[in-house]
Amino acid sequence: MKKATVGAVVVGSAAVVALIVRHRMRKTSKWGRAKAILKEFEEKCATPDAKLKQVADAMTVEMHAGLASEGGSKLKMLISYVDNLPTGDEEGVFYALDLGGTNFRVLRVQLGGKSGGIIHQEFAEASIPPNLMVGSSEALFDYIAAELAKFVAAEEEKFHQPPGRQRELGFTFSFPIMQTSINSGTLIRWTKGFSIDDTVGKDVVAELEKAMHRQGVDMRVSALVNDTVGTLAGGRFSNKDVSIAVILGTGTNAAYVERAQAIPKWNGPLPKSGEMVINMEWGNFRSSHLPLTEYDHAMDTDSLNPGEQIFEKICSGMYLGEILRRVLLRMAEEAGIFGDEVPPKLKNSFILRTPEMSAMHHDTSSDLRVVGDKLKDILEISNTCLKTRRLVVELCNIVATRGARLAAAGVLGIVKKMGRDTPEESGQETIVVAMDGGLYEHYTEYRKCLENSLVGLLGEEMSTSIVFKHANDGSGIGAALLAASNSLYVEDRS
Ligand code: BGC
Repeated sequence: MKKATVGAVVVGSAAVVALIVRHRMRKTSKWGRAKAILKEFEEKCATPDAKLKQVADAMTVEMHAGLASEGGSKLKMLISYVDNLPTGDEEGVFYALDLGGTNFRVLRVQLGGKSGGIIHQEFAEASIPPNLMVGSSEALFDYIAAELAKFVAAEEEKFHQPPGRQRELGFTFSFPIMQTSINSGTLIRWTKGFSIDDTVGKDVVAELEKAMHRQGVDMRVSALVNDTVGTLAGGRFSNKDVSIAVILGTGTNAAYVERAQAIPKWNGPLPKSGEMVINMEWGNFRSSHLPLTEYDHAMDTDSLNPGEQIFEKICSGMYLGEILRRVLLRMAEEAGIFGDEVPPKLKNSFILRTPEMSAMHHDTSSDLRVVGDKLKDILEISNTCLKTRRLVVELCNIVATRGARLAAAGVLGIVKKMGRDTPEESGQETIVVAMDGGLYEHYTEYRKCLENSLVGLLGEEMSTSIVFKHANDGSGIGAALLAASNSLYVEDRS
C-alpha cells in the first residue's frame, strides 16, 4: 500500500513535470512565433539610408512629372495660385476656417500692418461629428457655417468691419483641390476618412458660400488654401527663409515655393514674383521603393480609398495606430501573446489611435505601466507581462521609425528638386521647413527620428542649412494672411 502510494506519487509528479515541460515548450514556441512575426515585420519595414535615397529620388522624379502635365504623376503638384507670400504689411481683421483633420477651427486674426505683426488672434475649435464625415455636402458645410455664425455673433464690437466693408475669410480646406483661382477650386477626392460623394467635383467655395447664406453669415471667401499652403504662408510671415511646409497630422502633405518657369503645365501669365506655391499632395506618392508590408496592403484594401494615399497610409497619424493594431492582432491569433483567446476589442479597426501608440512608445517606467494601462483601457487586455509590453513598445518603434524616416526622405526629395541638396548648390543659404500637425507636434520620438534622419541623409555639413521650425497653427493664420493679401479692399496686389 505504502509502495503503491509512492509509485502513484512518482507517476503523478512525472506527469506534472511533463505538463510543465509541455506548457513551457508551448509558451516558448508561442513566444518564438511572436518573435518571428516581429522580426519579419521589422525587416519589411526597414529603411536603410540607401533605400531612403531611392525614395527621395523617386519623389523628385514624380515632382517633375506632376509639374509637367496634369495627371502626369501620382503626385498632383497642384497650383495654389499663391504667387506672393505674406510680407508683413497686411492689415485689418480677417477670419479663417480650418477644415481637414480630426478637428475644425474658426479663427479671427487682427493684423497690424507694416511691422505691426499679429495684434490679436482668437479661435474656437470643435471636433467633426463622424456622421458628417460620410454624410452629405450640405450637412457638413451647414455645420461649419453654423460654427462660424456662432463665433461671429459672439465677437466684440472692436472687431467689427468699417461700414460698407464685408468680412473676409481664408478657407483652409485640407484635401486635394484643383484650384481655378486663389478663391475657387473643385474637390478632386476626399482623404483621411472623409467620404462625401456629392462634393467631389464641386467648387467648395461655392458650397461654403451657400451654407453661409443659409446660416445667415455675411462673409466673402477671399482665399482657398490647402493647410500646407497656409502653413507656408504663416511660416513665411514670421521667417523669410521658410520655403517648404510639411504637415504631419491625421494626414500628410507638403508644399514648397517653385520657380514659375519650372512648371510646364502652368499656362497662366508669369507671376511678377516669378514664383508659385505648389501643393504637392505627397500623401498620394507611391513608389516600388516604399517598404510596404502585408499589414499595409490589407489596411489599404479595407480603407475608404483603396490604392490611394499610400505614402500617407504609412507615415501619418490616422494610420500608425491601426498598423500597430493589425500586427498585434496577428500576434494574438498566431502566437497567443494575450492568452488563449484573441481579445475581442483587438479586432476593431482603428480602435488603437496614434496618440495612444505614442503614449506607449514614450513609456519610461520600469514596468512599462503606461503600456499595461493602455492595453487594459483600450483593448480590455489585463495582466500583461513585461515581456509582452516590451514587444508592444518594439512594434511602436518599428512603425513610427518607418513613417518618420520616409517623411525625411520626402523632405530630401523636395530639397533636391529645389537644387539645394549640395553645398555648392545651396550657396549656404538656409531653407526653413515650417512643420505642423499633431503627429509632428506631439509624437516626440517620431519628430526626433525625422529630424535626425534628414541629418543622416544630407550629411553634417549640409544638414545645418535645413532647419525645421514648428509653425503652431500656421495654417489658420496663413489662410487669414492670404485672405488679407487677396482682399477685395487692397488696391495693388502686386
Ligand atoms: C490631404 C492634403 C492635406 C494633408 C494634411 C491629406 O490627406 O490630401 O490636402 O494637406 O492631408 O492635412
